[in-house]
Amino acid sequence: MDSRIPGLYKLDPEDRLSEIAEATELSQEAQNKITTQGIDAAEAGAISENVIGTIEYPLGIATNFVINGQDKLIPMAIEETSVVAAASNAARMARSTGGFRTQTSGPYMISQIQATEVDTPRAAKIDILDAKENLIELANEQDPVLVKHGGGCEDIEVQLIETPRGKMVITRLIVNVQDAMGGNAVNTMAEALAPEIEQLTQGNVSLRILSNLADRRLARASCTIEPSELETEDTDLSGEDIRDRIIDAWAFAVGDPYRAATHNKGIMNGIDAVATATYNDWRAIEAGAHAYAAVDGYGPLTTYEGDSDGNLVCSIELPMQVGTIGGATQLQPVAKAALEILDVDSANGLAGVFAAVGLAQNLGGLRALVSEGIQSGHMSLHAKNIAIQANAPEHLVDEIAARMVAEEVIRQDRAEELIDELQ
Ligand code: MEV
Repeated sequence: MDSRIPGLYKLDPEDRLSEIAEATELSQEAQNKITTQGIDAAEAGAISENVIGTIEYPLGIATNFVINGQDKLIPMAIEETSVVAAASNAARMARSTGGFRTQTSGPYMISQIQATEVDTPRAAKIDILDAKENLIELANEQDPVLVKHGGGCEDIEVQLIETPRGKMVITRLIVNVQDAMGGNAVNTMAEALAPEIEQLTQGNVSLRILSNLADRRLARASCTIEPSELETEDTDLSGEDIRDRIIDAWAFAVGDPYRAATHNKGIMNGIDAVATATYNDWRAIEAGAHAYAAVDGYGPLTTYEGDSDGNLVCSIELPMQVGTIGGATQLQPVAKAALEILDVDSANGLAGVFAAVGLAQNLGGLRALVSEGIQSGHMSLHAKNIAIQANAPEHLVDEIAARMVAEEVIRQDRAEELIDELQ
């Protein structure tokens, strides 16, 4: 499969889908699901409450990705312009050096059990650790299927924390959740262990819930960009200038949390779009990403460095709590089709894709920010929208948009004048 599909953007959506279907050998059934939308309100009622309908996002495909030596087409569902294009551009820049390499720490989720009003917290900690084997066994009885597939609770840790309401004893379950996001599995285990923990601590057990700071479930990605790949027709800056400005932009984010927040938002543009397309819980991913970014004082989740050959070396590391089975992923046929397009065989594989897309998104955004800025790209799409709103016939939309951008007058009344003039 070749993820480079030049001119994909010029096709209409139907032909685009055919191209993607051909490239990824997407089943006819999956293609039908994409064109007819996934679920009706009745089916949606099995996912959420008080459902009155469903709402759609544009589903686009980012091209050019090579991840661990394999070409990949990336489904992205997002309502923001320029995101899919920026990810595709950055992925193209990385191709000449082999694309993205990814690595994951393993699918370990952490679940926490809170015990309050413990008279002897230090002794309670020792008692819990003494009972570790029994506790692990009890946790694993809750999910024999996960255990059968090689997962399950593997360790128990105890933390004593100071809080505004006194010392608390926090028991942590470290659970290998295999290919699931794992929320249900680890929460069930924590709930099952609560009476034991209450007895061992002689305190009150209250919360029994996973932590989204999933720092035992990290995904990493890196890529190397030759300076010539960074050059753009829109500025006179050399590739080396752009490389240095990207490193400066990253340093700005290291030095200033106001910038780091936006830097990381750019990363999450890509990651959330893949999460939405595959029906993964983007709130969990967001919470994990920002909490991880804040562990040593809030900073950027990516890093940019220059190597001795003058290349830009880019990397990312963040928690990635995503699954290919369970949760809602299987309830939405378009999300199932998106997973089919991605063609990953494990949650770890999916986590690596998310990391690579986040890195590409950040690189694409920074490249634009340090050179031509992001408004020119936004403006041409905005102009297209205005032309469509002014009822421009389909064959005139691009021309009217281009004229308005050139004139720097992007308004509905101008679009209407141009429609009259050109018809
Ligand atoms: C816009 O959605 C995202 C950016 O602002 C990210 C950034 O500033 O790095 C372009």
